Amino acid sequence: MSRSAEDLAATIRSRAGSEPPRIGLILGSGLSHLAEAVEGTAIPYGDLDGFPGSGVSGHSANLIVGTLDGVRVAVFGGRSHYYEHGRSDAMRLPLEVLKALGGEILIATNAAGSMTPEMRTGSIMCLSDHINFSGLNPLIGEPKDARFVPMTAAYDPALREALREAASETETPMHDGIYAWYSGPSFETPAEIRAIAMLGADAVGMSTVPEVILARFLGLRCAAISVITNMAAGMSDESIGHDHTKAMAPIGAAKLETVLRAALPRL
Ligand code: HPA
Repeated sequence: MSRSAEDLAATIRSRAGSEPPRIGLILGSGLSHLAEAVEGTAIPYGDLDGFPGSGVSGHSANLIVGTLDGVRVAVFGGRSHYYEHGRSDAMRLPLEVLKALGGEILIATNAAGSMTPEMRTGSIMCLSDHINFSGLNPLIGEPKDARFVPMTAAYDPALREALREAASETETPMHDGIYAWYSGPSFETPAEIRAIAMLGADAVGMSTVPEVILARFLGLRCAAISVITNMAAGMSDESIGHDHTKAMAPIGAAKLETVLRAALPRL
């Protein structure tokens, strides 16, 4: 049986110290470099009963609790995706643990395909909103009325403003846009991409949306940034695949790291 979030938080405090990490960061595919800059304690997910095994190459499965540029953070080096097992709530326990540790903010990062011609591979995009194209929801089955989570300002306006200021101060180009969640693991067809673009999305990926729904349920303020690793299916001749995602992620990851590190102290 999985241990409770409180119980896991006590274990984490005993290993990494009791100062609360105000900010939780989830690192997406190929974006784990940022974890190396954190001074703190790395705890393998395997030591945290009920945490997901990270079965996706490009994700490193450690929780690192420590400081990044003087700010106390909890960095989730791996995430669980719906496509691994068919459970959209697989990140619920890690997010409950963040809350139990005293976390107030979740920043999710991801790799994504772009539907916007001027948002090329290597760009970064701050999410202004999302479209749940999967129709799945991690709160299905949750019995409490709290399951009726308002999602009107799910991507916190003040956090987005701080990220925008950090991007502008560091002269890092950052797009603003709407992210659509596609279940994966197959990539989209060109017809699906045209449909998703018509619905109003600027980028598409296989994560983040269930985490933001869960985080809002838990009362965490949220922001998210996509690293564009490819033009979405049918948008260009560029190849699409997980190897391509991992190979392209470092280009945008450097921009992501610059913006996040400049923003952290002011969040
Ligand atoms: N589609 C879905 N997920 C992705 C993509 C994409 O084109 N690129 C990186 N993750």
